[in-house]
Amino acid sequence: MSQRIKIKALLTGELTGKEVTVKGWVRAFRQNRFIALNDGSTNNNIQIVVDFENTDPALLKRITFGSAISVTGEMVPSVGSGQKVEVTAKTIEILGDCDPEEFPLQPKRQTLEFLREKAHLRFRTSTFGAIFRLRNTLAFAVHKFFNEKGFVYLHTPIITASDAEGAGEMFRVTTFDPQKPPLTETGEVDFKQDFFGRSTNLTVSGQLEGELGAMALSDIYTFGPTFRAENSNTTRHLAEFWMIEPEMAFYDLNDNMDLAEEMLKYLIGYALEHNREDIEFLTQRLLDEEKQKPQAERSEMSLLEKLQFCLDNDFVRLTYTEAIDILKESNHNKKKKFQYLIEGWGADLQSEHERYLVEKHFKKPVILTDYPKDIKSFYMRLNDDGKTVRAMDILFPGIGEIIGGSQREERYDKLVQRMNEMGVPTEELWWYLDTRRFGSCEHAGFGLGFERLVLFVTGMGNIRDVIPFPRAPKTAEF
Ligand code: 4AD
Ligand code: MG
Repeated sequence: MSQRIKIKALLTGELTGKEVTVKGWVRAFRQNRFIALNDGSTNNNIQIVVDFENTDPALLKRITFGSAISVTGEMVPSVGSGQKVEVTAKTIEILGDCDPEEFPLQPKRQTLEFLREKAHLRFRTSTFGAIFRLRNTLAFAVHKFFNEKGFVYLHTPIITASDAEGAGEMFRVTTFDPQKPPLTETGEVDFKQDFFGRSTNLTVSGQLEGELGAMALSDIYTFGPTFRAENSNTTRHLAEFWMIEPEMAFYDLNDNMDLAEEMLKYLIGYALEHNREDIEFLTQRLLDEEKQKPQAERSEMSLLEKLQFCLDNDFVRLTYTEAIDILKESNHNKKKKFQYLIEGWGADLQSEHERYLVEKHFKKPVILTDYPKDIKSFYMRLNDDGKTVRAMDILFPGIGEIIGGSQREERYDKLVQRMNEMGVPTEELWWYLDTRRFGSCEHAGFGLGFERLVLFVTGMGNIRDVIPFPRAPKTAEF
């Protein structure tokens, strides 16, 4: 029997004239004659031509939308339009039947909401095939980018006893029976008796451990799952998401911004180069979707143009203080179109403000720096003004914040003072403070939300559609 060949390889046409075996799932079967077969290796289907007059009708009946089949036949140039090559079937074997009455998917466009409820099957659709191939390419490109730069991939722990960010609610990790946890004499849960002998959680970030690595290996990055139990039911938040956190010794904030911008452009460029067809498919999908909308609400650029635009333009860099001035003076603010009006310096920016700067004012990706210290984490380096810190957030069109990072406070006394002011327990983070006691140096890093990047590159609107099995409030089915 001939060896199974993937459809992506078949469609190059290189095997024309040869006998091949192809396996996949039926996307369509027309006129008892033409099967469109897909195996997930590409968005395109291969056409199988069936000699229906000489094929058992009982077998023909079992070639239904969604069934798994194996076909052996000859690769030939196609006479029909729409494809260069096709397979003339010699033998067809049904590997797995798919009862059309029972199968939840239909051979037509189905809403993303519907498919979210059928997330175990949505990989079978063209849209999700394209999304998850792109996600894979982007993950590979992350490793390639850092590997080429000599960064060390450091695996930071998923279970932790510290709250790195003060980023909000964490998921507790325990082996206690929730009905009857051991109690102390004063009636509190006695975590000393728990598995780790202390209270532990799922990590919100690998940064603090990442810094320990950078203080010896110079340049490291993490790429792993992170968990946040905030109850934010938005199209940009997940309870379990993947984050890439590089951390570099001897970097200041400018070096940090340069690396982040270079990385984002590399990743987008890599996807454009290696998954062009998937991006073209998603671009068309968005254009079709936008046809339903009134002209004024349609995007100025197609997905493909937007990605190219990102590559071709420098990101705008400005300080938080400059951004506040722009926002305060904007017509949007004056006409009270923001839900949260900008009154003055010090306020945290909401995503409506971030998107105004990126989408309306600059029409470019923006890097905001030097935020007020009170709205940022304890580890960010204090500026000489005593009011702002060396923070940077990268804001993207349609997404808002895609990256958050900073130059770190490397001065022991200043760090301890800041931790005390913010109520961060210095005893618990003694190991973190040790880096500032023994050979401390200037360093910086950032975190890229991987799903937000995938959102941007696929042009999708909901973060739950770019992670295979989303975890969000009341959502953990599959
Ligand atoms: O800005 P954040 O909270 O920064 C940190 O965690 C730092 N420790 C990073 C560092 O300096 N090493 O998160 C970083 C990024 C955000 O910019 C956003 O893209 C993403 O992570 N993110 C989320 N993505 C999906 N769902 C959520 N709930 C997210 N929270 C943050
Ligand atoms: Mg942030």
